[in-house]
Amino acid sequence: MLERTDRLIMDNQKIRAICPGSFDPITRGHLDIIERAAALFPQVIVGVLQNPGKNPLFSVQERVDLIKTAIKHLPNVEVVFFSGLLVDFARKVEANLIVKGLRAISDFEYEFQMALNNKRLAPEIETMFMMTKNEYSFLSSSVVREIARYGGNIRDLVTPEIEEALKVKFMLK
Ligand code: PNS
Repeated sequence: MLERTDRLIMDNQKIRAICPGSFDPITRGHLDIIERAAALFPQVIVGVLQNPGKNPLFSVQERVDLIKTAIKHLPNVEVVFFSGLLVDFARKVEANLIVKGLRAISDFEYEFQMALNNKRLAPEIETMFMMTKNEYSFLSSSVVREIARYGGNIRDLVTPEIEEALKVKFMLK
């Protein structure tokens, strides 16, 4: 007999997926994972972490608004911010799958730890990893912030709206 999660994955119409992250700001690498999740599953929620312990470049509301501009071509994706544990947020929005991108081997240990702890906290929620596209394997929000801070070219790394928002943040106009 099939396990409960096997049956769930086979009937993907029942899946509500979360793509969680800090998104400070959203990059083309994030967007690629969100687009691929949106092509596979009927409902995708981008969960934006509001972490009071961190000092992000963009406020949580700015990050949510920027993501909305980047995902406006995806009708089955919505953007919601959360604080606290990801699994509590997932339960609140009745999501049953966490979708994350994996870049290089360096991501693996951290993501493995997170996935196993999330599974321990919420056994009913699955975590799925998608390998990032080759061209984005070097990309992160912190790299984008660093290049943008010093006026470098980030055109291939973020959407035009994010590029503009970074210029305004760093007053490079
Ligand atoms: O984009 P990031 O910063 O790599 O995203 C990390 C994120 C938001 C997915 C992760 O920090 C997270 O889930 N934070 C919420 C707190 C939580 O649930 N921690 C895991 C306990 S095992």
